[in-house]
Amino acid sequence: MTDASTSVDFEIVGREDFSPATYSLVVRHPLMAKAARPGQFVIVMSHESGERIPLTIADFDRETGTVTLVIQAVGKTTREMQQTCQIGTALYALVGPMGIPSRLGDARKVVCVGGGLGVAPVFPQARGFKENGAYVIGVLGFRSRDQIFWQDKFNSCCDELLLCTDDGSAGIKGLVSRGIELAIASHPDIDEVIAIGPPLMMKACAEVTRPHGIKTMVSLNPIMVDGTGMCGGCRVKLGDQVKFACVDGPDFDGHKVDFADLIMRLRRYAEQERTAVQRWSENCRMKDQIAPAGTPARAAPISDAFAELIDLYDPFDPFEQVKGG
Ligand SMILES: Cc1cc2nc3c(=O)[nH]c(=O)nc-3n(C[C@H](O)[C@H](O)[C@H](O)COP(=O)(O)OP(=O)(O)OC[C@H]3O[C@@H](n4cnc5c(N)ncnc54)[C@H](O)[C@@H]3O)c2cc1C
Ligand code: FES
Repeated sequence: MTDASTSVDFEIVGREDFSPATYSLVVRHPLMAKAARPGQFVIVMSHESGERIPLTIADFDRETGTVTLVIQAVGKTTREMQQTCQIGTALYALVGPMGIPSRLGDARKVVCVGGGLGVAPVFPQARGFKENGAYVIGVLGFRSRDQIFWQDKFNSCCDELLLCTDDGSAGIKGLVSRGIELAIASHPDIDEVIAIGPPLMMKACAEVTRPHGIKTMVSLNPIMVDGTGMCGGCRVKLGDQVKFACVDGPDFDGHKVDFADLIMRLRRYAEQERTAVQRWSENCRMKDQIAPAGTPARAAPISDAFAELIDLYDPFDPFEQVKGG
């Protein structure tokens, strides 16, 4: 594991905005890039008094010494980062890689499924399976054509790629579960399905594969605090077993996960999260009003449309999660 003491800085050397709510940050960290494995995550602090948030390592490049994070602006910290994390700035802290790397194993034919933001974290797994010699079928789901990102990256590591959009504006009209059904219909020898996205999407994927007896791994995103197995915050239920996603996961057998418990636990702080984002957006507006003329703004003022998004956003609505990217 690497931390601030083993790296000079965590400079942001690249950034791309995929949609009004989804963006990627390419962060220079040669040690992290060297150590990272598919399925692992980092804990990030964007500034000294910022919240520590877990983010999946969506890509790593050992030659350039960088890791890529893809972030959906859903609450106070991720919205603040959307404004302040620009190329040339640096993150305050980046700890990792954390979690057990995905087991790429001996699977010969796999389906890698990503829904919305889940497209990003499934990429290193798709590439890892391909490097291991597996036949890789990618199934990517987005709300509509204008939300699609990283199609080129998946084309480079998938033998087949099925795009699914809710509105039919690109690829198959329908959810990723439809894409999995089509893949199973044309490939009776699939060894494993990996699905990453909103909890309800992963649950739906596990239900499609269950009758076929296809091993299905999902990556869980419960609320994490320390990320080291000490606080119990990221507790997840698998049948009658209790696991901690930060040290036992985040990948788990999708046929065993208690998704209702996961969703219930994710909702626990909804009120506090809403209050935090409202306070933060009010502060942003006030700072914007009192800044002397000519002062360079540290963060762009939050627009009315964005404020409306904060009020309307329901992080537990799978369509809202897919809508963000
Ligand atoms: C292993 C793991 C990997 C993740 N990878 C990504 C990723 O690659 N990209 C991405 O955009 N998001 C990822 N997340 C979720 C991300 O950590 C949360 O969106 C983020 O913490 C929200 O912070 P906030 O202040 O912006 O929003 P808040 O308003 O605080 O919360 C918004 C939502 O995020 C969830 N959340 C809040 N705090 C945490 C926390 N400390 N840990 C986990 N979830 C939290 C809550 O359930 C809530 O619904 C990951 C979570 C986990 C556990
Ligand atoms: S985050 Fe504390 S035990 Fe996993």
